[in-house]
Amino acid sequence: MNKLYGLLGHPVGHSMSPLIHNDAFKALDIDATYQAFDVHPSQLKEAVDGIRALGLSGCNVTVPHKVAVMEFLDEVDEEARLIGAVNTIVNENGKLKGYNTDGRGYVESLLEQAQTNLSNKRILLVGAGGAARGVLVALLKEGIAHVSITNRTLEKAKPLLAIANELQTDAALIRLDEAESLLNQFDVIINTTSVGMSPNISDTPLSIHSLKQGVIVSDLIYNPLETLFLQEASQQGAEIANGVAMFVNQAALSFEYWTGIRPDRKKMEQLVLRQLGG
Ligand code: ATR
Repeated sequence: MNKLYGLLGHPVGHSMSPLIHNDAFKALDIDATYQAFDVHPSQLKEAVDGIRALGLSGCNVTVPHKVAVMEFLDEVDEEARLIGAVNTIVNENGKLKGYNTDGRGYVESLLEQAQTNLSNKRILLVGAGGAARGVLVALLKEGIAHVSITNRTLEKAKPLLAIANELQTDAALIRLDEAESLLNQFDVIINTTSVGMSPNISDTPLSIHSLKQGVIVSDLIYNPLETLFLQEASQQGAEIANGVAMFVNQAALSFEYWTGIRPDRKKMEQLVLRQLGG
């Protein structure tokens, strides 16, 4: 029987998830369809009940539902609970379980790019929203110990310290201006904020003066493919990475939760890049 998977978001018109999941189902000869559903926040509970009632096999969850959806699920996995957000739902015989693959998707792309053990490297995480929490949890679970967090509103970053505490690890909070003046001490700098995203492409989350030799600077944004932040970092000699790999990896990890099969990530990436015109 054809299995049905979905995306719950608002809006969902530009999502590339149906494209890459349907392509992967086809390539693997899996009889399944992935459909995006535009769900108004006031109807999220009904939509989740609909997963059970209609027997959808699984869903992705995107903005603005990643936090709100949690209370309607039967179970939330430990990593998603720590992050405080769910982006993947698996229907296990009528019981809905939530997972979060965003952070792990990012960290897998970082490890692939770095090609070296990151446990002793110094990481600067810019931002304190849901994306930052996902990346932080995945970094700490990977055993990467030296994480500093900076954010426009430092107060809002305090809950991230509580997360580190819960994982019995440490993280440090630093002001944006401090981060800027210490920038050359970091081996990896990650922008998790929306600053620089289209249409506000002339904004950058922090100004780059000097960078450490061999530094990796990455941006979770993939529209544009190269933010001004990445362009400036590249001009200063950094190795850069955009958000495409994270997007692809989170999708691939969701796919694995649903089917137990690892899809072709390179193929997914090619589809995404073609869609983005890259
Ligand atoms: P997400 O869940 O996608 O991470 P979010 O929870 O809205 O989104 O978090 C947005 C992040 O981007 C926050 O770190 C936010 O900083 P504040 O905590 O100070 O609000 C950051 N951000 C958004 N717009 C920004 C801007 N114009 N300048 C600096 N930081 C910004």
